[in-house]
Parts: sequence; structure tokens; C-alpha cells
Amino acid sequence: MKPKILVTGGTGYIGSHMVVSLIEAGYEPIIFDNFSNSKRSVIGRIEQITGHKPKLIEGDIRNEKELSRVFEKYQISSVINFAGRKAVGESEVDPLLYFSYNVEGTIVLLRVMKKFGVKEFIFSSSATVYGDPGYDEFDEETPLSPINNYGQSKWMVEEILRKLYKAEPDWSIAILRYFNPVGAHPSGLIGEDPSGIPANLMPFISQVAVGRREKLRVFGNDYDTRDGTGARDYIHVLDLVDGHLAVLKAMNHKPQLLTLNLGTGNNTTVLELVHAFEKASGKTIPYEICARRPGDKNACWTNPNKAKKVIGWQAKRDINDMCIDTWRWQQKNPNGYPD
Ligand SMILES: NC(=O)c1ccc[n+]([C@@H]2O[C@H](COP(=O)([O-])OP(=O)(O)OC[C@H]3O[C@@H](n4cnc5c(N)ncnc54)[C@H](O)[C@@H]3O)[C@@H](O)[C@H]2O)c1
Repeated sequence: MKPKILVTGGTGYIGSHMVVSLIEAGYEPIIFDNFSNSKRSVIGRIEQITGHKPKLIEGDIRNEKELSRVFEKYQISSVINFAGRKAVGESEVDPLLYFSYNVEGTIVLLRVMKKFGVKEFIFSSSATVYGDPGYDEFDEETPLSPINNYGQSKWMVEEILRKLYKAEPDWSIAILRYFNPVGAHPSGLIGEDPSGIPANLMPFISQVAVGRREKLRVFGNDYDTRDGTGARDYIHVLDLVDGHLAVLKAMNHKPQLLTLNLGTGNNTTVLELVHAFEKASGKTIPYEICARRPGDKNACWTNPNKAKKVIGWQAKRDINDMCIDTWRWQQKNPNGYPD
């Protein structure tokens, strides 16, 4: 029998790619999502890619009853928790919403898992937990000092997981700190479909390229980087989900608390990304230079050594692959998923 993996947030950007990869790797993903930031048509796309329609339960991870029904019905082997909210700006405006979705939601999920004796858990954390330690290359020992509510909500869940593991060391827990996921499935059938104005750079660039937005605003060109614009560690979403598969295999229900950065170890500036996207799409991306945004860091990237050593994983795709796949998705779906 195929191991059943509960994927909360499984119709979202990263979750939908994870579901495809889990199916292809011989697992049975069960999606649990409240569609607060995704569309139902994602399911049909996953079926088109894999030939398999994943099971879907609509519900909110903060609702213990809805979650319990899933564990009663299916013998879940592990849980990957993508459900949550991810916009830094919004987290400053509505902290209660962020702590409710990200922290309260995860506590409810862990409580239900415990009730049903399911103790393997993979958590989507973020490089934002590091804040600005005064240098640019972060390894897993870099001190944690998140500087916004979103990053703090991830840090709080990490703390809860560390305390849970200390009190109950039979859990198998992975905390995965993502750098900047971009790109899309090479089929062009699934990809990132932000609602409203994209908060992240790559979807903004691709919406400019496809004509949905007039121009890109580049915040700051006087940073201490190769061309003065901010640099980040962009990772192809398929490399990211491959990392999760490697983690699942490495964990294998052995009691442990594993903390890993998932990034490439490279960094790309805003203007380098713009030029790579122009090359991939054949389009010109108009942009204007604006003032720095408060709280933005000049550059950050991961030291990828621990992931390589512990789970034998490293990212394979480069920035051109990320732009080509994003552009294919955007061209095929100029307005994102159909409603
Ligand atoms: N994309 C990034 O840049 C990035 C970087 C670091 C970490 N992360 C984390 O990875 C996870 C997935 O990110 P994503 O980019 O796929 O986001 P996303 O918004 O595309 O996906 C999240 C999914 O979770 C669902 N969801 C949200 N709250 C829920 C709830 N209470 N109950 C049930 N479902 C709920 C949404 O409908 C959506 O389908 C998030 O936790 C995010 O914080 C993302």
C-alpha cells in the first residue's frame, strides 16, 4: 500500500508541485486546503500531469473537527504542512490573522496528529527566521532574529516544534527553511498564481512580461551587491519539492528533529533576474528604480552544505531554468488559473 501523506495547503504554489512529485514518487498525497489562497482548478491540472486525481478534503487546519475526520478516514503516515499565509507586508497590517493561520493552525494540526498517533511532520519554515544577522550567507547555526510578524510566526512554530520534540522525543520532525522559491512545472500547467498585486519579484516580472502590469519597481540600487540591487537565493520549486522527498526518505519515521536550509547557495540580483527573464521570454521588462524599502536586506543566500551532507540533496536547476519555466506557465495562463 502506498504511504498516505497529508499535504495541508496542497493546492497552493509549493503544495501543488509537491503533490505532483509525491504521486510520481509512489506516495498517495491527501490534500487538505481551505482555498483561501488557491483555486479548485489546480486539481484538474495535477490530474492532467500525473494521470491521477488526488484526494481532496476542503477544510481549515484551525478546525480540529474537520482535521480529525481526515485522520479517522485515512491512515495518514506523515504530514507536510504548507497551509499558512506568507505575505510579509500583510503580516504587519494584520498580525492576529498571521498568528492565527500560521501558529494556531499548526498547533491544532499537531494536536490532532498526536491524538491519532501520527508523529512524522515536515514544516515549511522560511529564511525570514534569520532576519538580518549582519552577514549574507546563512547556515543552520545562524542566530534566529526575525524582523517581521510573518518571520516571527515561523520562528514561533519552530520553537513549539523544538519544545515538542524535547518533551516527546518519539516524534520525527523536519523544519525546512526555504529561501526564495520560484519557477513552475515544465508542463506549464501549474505555477505561482498570486492573488492581487504580487508581493514577490518573479511573479511581478512575469506579469510585466505578459502585459498584465506596466513596469517593475526596483527598490534600491545602492546596496553593496554586484549591481547595487538586492540579491537573493532563488530556488526552483521542483528542486525544493525534491528536497522534501529526500527529507521524507531520510526521516523514515526515525525519531529526530532535523533543521535544514533549502536553497541553492547562489545569489541573483534583481537586475540579473530581470535580464535572465528578458532572455528567457524575449520580452523587454521596463523598470524604474525607487527608494529602498524599510526592512529589506542587501543580500542573503544559504550555505547548502548541511542539506547535501544529511539528506544527499542539492538544487540542480539554474536561474535560466527558473525563468524559462515561469515564462511557460505565465504565457499559457496569462491570468493564472481559471476560477
Ligand atoms: N513561496 C514562498 O516564497 C515561501 C518562502 C518560504 C516559506 N514559504 C512557506 O511555504 C508554505 C507554502 O507556501 P506557498 O508559496 O505554496 O503559499 P500558497 O499561499 O500558494 O499556499 C498555501 C496554501 O495553503 C492554503 N491554506 C492557507 N491557510 C490555510 C488553512 N488555515 N487551512 C487550510 N489551508 C490553508 C491556501 O489556500 C493555499 O492553497 C507557506 O507556509 C509559506 O509560508 C513560502
